[in-house]
Amino acid sequence: MDELLGIDVGATGIKGGIVDLEKGELISERFKLPTPKSGKPKDIIKVIREILLHFDWLKKPVGLGFPAIIKGGKSLSASNIDDSWIGFPIVKEIQNKTQGPIVVINDADAAGIAELYFGNGKNVKGTSILLTLGTGIGSAIFYDGVLLPNTEMGHLKYKGSIAEDHASNSARKRNDLSWEEFGKELNDFLNHVDFIFNPNLIMIGGGISKKFEEYSSCFSKKLDVVPAKKYNNAGIIGAAMAYKIYGKKKKKK
Ligand code: BGC
Repeated sequence: MDELLGIDVGATGIKGGIVDLEKGELISERFKLPTPKSGKPKDIIKVIREILLHFDWLKKPVGLGFPAIIKGGKSLSASNIDDSWIGFPIVKEIQNKTQGPIVVINDADAAGIAELYFGNGKNVKGTSILLTLGTGIGSAIFYDGVLLPNTEMGHLKYKGSIAEDHASNSARKRNDLSWEEFGKELNDFLNHVDFIFNPNLIMIGGGISKKFEEYSSCFSKKLDVVPAKKYNNAGIIGAAMAYKIYGKKKKKK
């Protein structure tokens, strides 16, 4: 298996692409459709199927990153999607429509896996953390390259509410923050994360990683922070890799 379809479900867009699993690169164009406004399972699964049809990928293996806690084949949380995803049998229901095997993991865990194998997380010893800053804040934490799945650092109680209300990209837009103001806000959160987890490296992912130079001068000197190398394709690449890592292996005869 050296090529696989990766899909990244986000609060605003659902993106797919065929990934070269050896090189960790997209070998197709990136196909993106808007996330249906309802955020409901039926509507989102319809779009996922459209992406498979676009790539002529029905019945073939797919890796999918989804913005929720994913355990035992179910989605268990819903912060920026409809509440009906809580307790929803996501793996079974998507498979019914795509007719092929699928691995579903948390979207930030997927992005973290891409950085671990092909980006700035490669060969980092000890604890490393990837934070995706988008509509919400996603997190992936690794120790010596092993993922501790489903962490929700964006939901840490923080400044009277939760962290993603203050340091996500949507908070930047909502509060009309300049890059400098956002940099200071993010620096507060990074220091909080640093104090709790003591990572050796923090990587910033999500679309905003491309603008790293605009706000990173506000970060405390003691922090080791870099942008995600795969920018916002990390979610697609990591989702495809998740299938390779966690998908059912065919028994050798
Ligand atoms: C969700 C996480 C997700 C993150 C990024 C958060 O609101 O709770 O599960 O990884 O957004 O999409």
